[in-house]
Amino acid sequence: MRKPIIAGNWKMYKTVSEAEELVKAVVAKLGDYDEVEVVFCPPFTALAAVKQLIKGTRFGLGAQNLYWKNEGAYTGEISPLMLKEIGCDYCVIGHSERRQYFGETDADVNQKVKAALDAGIKPIICVGESLEQRESGQTESLVRMQTEKALEGVEPSLVPQIVIAYEPIWAIGTGKSSDGPDANRVIGWIRDTVRARYGHETAQAMRIQYGGSVKPDNIKEFMDQPEIDGALVGGASLDPESFVKIVRYNQ
Ligand code: PGA
Repeated sequence: MRKPIIAGNWKMYKTVSEAEELVKAVVAKLGDYDEVEVVFCPPFTALAAVKQLIKGTRFGLGAQNLYWKNEGAYTGEISPLMLKEIGCDYCVIGHSERRQYFGETDADVNQKVKAALDAGIKPIICVGESLEQRESGQTESLVRMQTEKALEGVEPSLVPQIVIAYEPIWAIGTGKSSDGPDANRVIGWIRDTVRARYGHETAQAMRIQYGGSVKPDNIKEFMDQPEIDGALVGGASLDPESFVKIVRYNQ
């Protein structure tokens, strides 16, 4: 059985004090609810403060990006070792906003995935098609290719650390979510790509999330699908009420 994982990707929202307020509220509301693994992904500046609040709990901490070198003259970048020392368990890698606005390529994503794994940080690898790609029937080939490239050269023994998030770009922040069966079908293709490279058992064990306008009123539709193991939540993770409702989708 794959344990569901729901991560809040806060993007470039929340100062340190706002981040503390949000985490305190979520932790207080969730109590010891343990059916879902919950991960907070605040901006870099709030990582240490959030870690202080969740130390010794089962809540996870994730960064939203990293660079693939451990140190060096790379002004403005943050290394996997730095994130590890702060206590990051996860790192979102290859989010479509990074690909779209900061020019990240599949090769960059692959380097970041390997560097994160080397440092003991679990990557949450984002893949997903644009509206144009969907409309021209490229969704399957694109997500298969993004998955293959992200995993190139990753040692089989490290693959169980990886989470993949299927995030159709047209559904991110638009209020237009995919539907359960459609996301399930695409995630099936992603799992099949992992299977072809790493075998059935590894593919069956891998957790694959859906992301893109996930809200309290549609989360269940996604979580009811057999291939979907969680969600990467943007906008709705910024409000404690709605994030907690999403996490408790089964109640
Ligand atoms: P959204 O963002 O939930 O606001 O659509 C999801 C994401 O970008 O991870």
